[in-house]
Amino acid sequence: MSNDLFSTARIGRYTLRNRFVMAPMTRSRADDDSGVPSDLAAVYYGQRADAGLIITEGTYPSPMGKGYVRTPGIHSAAQIDAWRAVTAAVRAKGGRIFLQLMHTGRISHPDMLPDGATPVAPSAIRPAGQVWTASGQQDFVTPRALSTEEVAGVVDEYRRATRHALDAGFDGVELHAASGYLPEQFLSSGTNQRMDQYGGSLANRARFILEVLAAMTEEAGSDRVGIKISPEMGFNDIVDAAPQETYRYLVEQLAPLKLAYLHVAWSKSGFDYHGVLQPLFDGAYLRGGALTKETAKATIAEGTADAVVFGSLYLANPDLPHRFLADAPLNAADRNTFYSPGPDGYIDYPALDAGNATNRALRIHAYGGSDAVQIDRIAEPVAAAGDVVVRVHAAGVNGLDWKVRDGLLHGAFPLTFPVTLGSELAGEVIALGAGVTGFAIGDRVMGAMGGLGAYADRVAISAANLTPTPADLDDVHAAAIPVTALTAWQALFDAGGLTAGQTVLIHGAAGGVGGFAVQFARRAGARVVVTARGVHTDYLRSLGAHDVIDYRTIAFHEHVADVDLVLDLVGGAALADSWQVLRAGGRIVSTAAPDILAQIPPGKNGVWFQMRPDQAQLADIVAMVARGDVKVDIAKVAEVADAADAIEQNKIGYGRGKGVIRFAQ
Ligand SMILES: Cc1cc2nc3c(=O)[nH]c(=O)nc-3n(C[C@H](O)[C@H](O)[C@H](O)COP(=O)(O)O)c2cc1C
Repeated sequence: MSNDLFSTARIGRYTLRNRFVMAPMTRSRADDDSGVPSDLAAVYYGQRADAGLIITEGTYPSPMGKGYVRTPGIHSAAQIDAWRAVTAAVRAKGGRIFLQLMHTGRISHPDMLPDGATPVAPSAIRPAGQVWTASGQQDFVTPRALSTEEVAGVVDEYRRATRHALDAGFDGVELHAASGYLPEQFLSSGTNQRMDQYGGSLANRARFILEVLAAMTEEAGSDRVGIKISPEMGFNDIVDAAPQETYRYLVEQLAPLKLAYLHVAWSKSGFDYHGVLQPLFDGAYLRGGALTKETAKATIAEGTADAVVFGSLYLANPDLPHRFLADAPLNAADRNTFYSPGPDGYIDYPALDAGNATNRALRIHAYGGSDAVQIDRIAEPVAAAGDVVVRVHAAGVNGLDWKVRDGLLHGAFPLTFPVTLGSELAGEVIALGAGVTGFAIGDRVMGAMGGLGAYADRVAISAANLTPTPADLDDVHAAAIPVTALTAWQALFDAGGLTAGQTVLIHGAAGGVGGFAVQFARRAGARVVVTARGVHTDYLRSLGAHDVIDYRTIAFHEHVADVDLVLDLVGGAALADSWQVLRAGGRIVSTAAPDILAQIPPGKNGVWFQMRPDQAQLADIVAMVARGDVKVDIAKVAEVADAADAIEQNKIGYGRGKGVIRFAQ
């Protein structure tokens, strides 16, 4: 696996599409009375959803956790509702977002707390400095020490907040145990002078954090919980007598929790905390603070972090990964608007030009799991000699097809290059490479990508794989034809040698390839027997199947014999039993069993078949469809945002017809 910022990273249960993490950043745009995030928050986070992971601004688990004006909470129904809009905006772009839980403890003020309550802390020790309140700067007050019984209540607040975060659609939660807030106040000897089980020894001082994490992981599962620490940052008047020992111990204690990640922010000390802490932690290691493009790249290349966290760079550059990729200049962050209300300095940092911003590809990171499909931006394709660039309007979905499933794509997962699983497209020509004849800018075309890579909204493709789209065929139907129909055609006739009067048996006939195969075989004058789930019987008969055998209830090999050609689209038991029904000299063509050659019994023939695009055949097929001789059945049309779902559905297969993803123009 290549170690660059754009390779995928595993964090807990998720495969992130790149190694960019947006740092938690308080932006003070929420409603001050209710702690409800503003409508702008969904825009702000949505703009930054290209990050592999977003960590939200610090959010208080309970009203007593609030420490800054206009910061949001996650304890009320209205807050949860508003956060839902944020998570939806990020999800719509295929992003991931964790909520940061921040209880500020003594770094607060009665003016911000319910009924003017005194801030709570492990011990009644007043922090040096001042706090910004609605009525201006004020000195910190001496906090009230939590009783032993009350500590359990605070732990419970984190538990509830975690549940609320999941309700709001967050992918996970981060415990803010950095920057001198409540968890670090417990951990540090300078702020914790307790005599009970939460104070004194190092084990006692670490107990609060570990109990909170235990509560959070009980709610969310450990693979959706991370922690942020900032050893020796010194912020908010926090001091510890032996920080190296403290943090080593804390991180050692995290091991049994199996957290998704450890996020370590910059420290002002010269001590190499990363060097000590990273080897002690098993999960993903996130490193942040003052990173630049160069230091971030080096960090990932050297393996001294699994992902890199950007604060002010992300604040000012909503499309940070794209800018890095394009070597584009970066917007500078304006400190004056870090915490000011309203849209200025919040949602108005510009992205690079809009043309590039819509350029995207679905990139398959790993097989299995609903997080297998991610939407990435890729560089604008250029038309090399013989190529045309197509603006894709629709692409066929082949699910997590057999190539990936069977490991036939070389290289370890997650793959480091964009892999298409469906290589069919329909769209319009927007650029022509040298030597291309027969196509002009603006032509509507359809075709099959060779090899890897069609789920993008702009694709460079060999002109030899394209054919004009008939005027009366819409793009969605056009995208459902190429690979599916060519595979059916070539498997039956080129590889299978099917002729009139023969019997063909098609396994798993309800999908796109099967649907075409039934129609082609019938038109060729063959007798067509298919296996499929019973619910597809009428559909397959309507396409021309003579016999439909429901493989769930009937053993097909007891009902059919003397088959000349088996088209095997499913492999497994169907293939194994097919040898029995194949007449001597008959042939099985399988798209599902690459090892078929090893399975052929004496006297029988088997062929492993992979579609090879053929422009002339495609043109013939398209003409048949245009004339209405052959039908295209669309099982599902999904928008890009729902592509993961569509592919997931397609993966389990046996749906009727073909799935198509439509790209917004
Ligand atoms: C405006 C602003 C607000 C921040 N608020 C938070 C916060 O709520 N929680 C937190 O853990 N860190 C917060 N931080 C710290 C960042 O998460 C990050 O650690 C810090 O900015 C260093 O990274 P950078 O040099 O890339 O900006 C904030 C930073 C900035 C600039």
